Amino acid sequence: MTDYEGFITNIKRKTNIDLALYKEAQMKRRLTSLYEKRGFKNFNDFYKGMERDQQLLSEFLDRMTINVSEFYRNGKRWEVLQNKIFPRLLKENRKLKIWSAACSTGEEPYTIAMVLSNYLPLSQISILATDLDENAIAKAKTGIYPERSLAEVPTAIKEKYFVKNGMFYQVKDEIKRTVTFRKHNLLKDPYEQNYDLIVCRNVMIYFTEEAKDQIYLNFSKALRPGGVLFVGSTEQIFNPSKYSFDIEDTFFYSKA
Ligand SMILES: C[S@@+](CC[C@H](N)C(=O)[O-])C[C@H]1O[C@@H](n2cnc3c(N)ncnc32)[C@H](O)[C@@H]1O
Repeated sequence: MTDYEGFITNIKRKTNIDLALYKEAQMKRRLTSLYEKRGFKNFNDFYKGMERDQQLLSEFLDRMTINVSEFYRNGKRWEVLQNKIFPRLLKENRKLKIWSAACSTGEEPYTIAMVLSNYLPLSQISILATDLDENAIAKAKTGIYPERSLAEVPTAIKEKYFVKNGMFYQVKDEIKRTVTFRKHNLLKDPYEQNYDLIVCRNVMIYFTEEAKDQIYLNFSKALRPGGVLFVGSTEQIFNPSKYSFDIEDTFFYSKA
């Protein structure tokens, strides 16, 4: 067993996270730079360090999850969601079941609520937002962001749904109330069914082909016929028909 394979086994036992399902070269590079910075020589020593030091374990989790996000990330895609996808979905269903999977610190589910508020009163909007990382979820629940996270937010939306507080912006409670946050591991936990929309962006890039394949199958099962999967802007699905997906627009797949 190599040093990294032993590490994978230990981490799985300790945290239930299976690093074998994440692209190896990329993950190894990220973790090696962390353990070298902390003065360890190999993965085995790094793991022993984590057994003694909770803070190191938390640093490891932080490094492996990569929480970068922003509101209206890749703005043009959100225009497609607003002008094409939502009108079609709302014609079919007045109450939409929506899931923001791997939501990180909350920018994405809050953006969904802001976009959907063009069509529905906020009291009728309810979004499930999940992530593997509990620290990210805790931040998401506070709803407080630095200005750079809002770079792509249209001015009218910024004025309507954020309150500026010193150097930070606070998402208004009326938006926060539309989102329920929960911990969920895409590689292990069960998926709810009958979704109209699943937004899962900028996480598939970290997974192995085998893991991606399983997740797309799970998403397909979790969507109602006609329901939509919205993926990240580098995450086109290579063979959508394998998962009963039709291309509805670039980065939007509807279940056949
Ligand atoms: C780069 S962020 C993407 C945030 C947001 N979706 C966006 O596009 O801006 C990736 C997120 O995936 C989460 N993640 C990584 N592995 C996961 C897994 N197995 N299950 C659920 N979430 C996971 C990380 O914790 C991180 O918050």
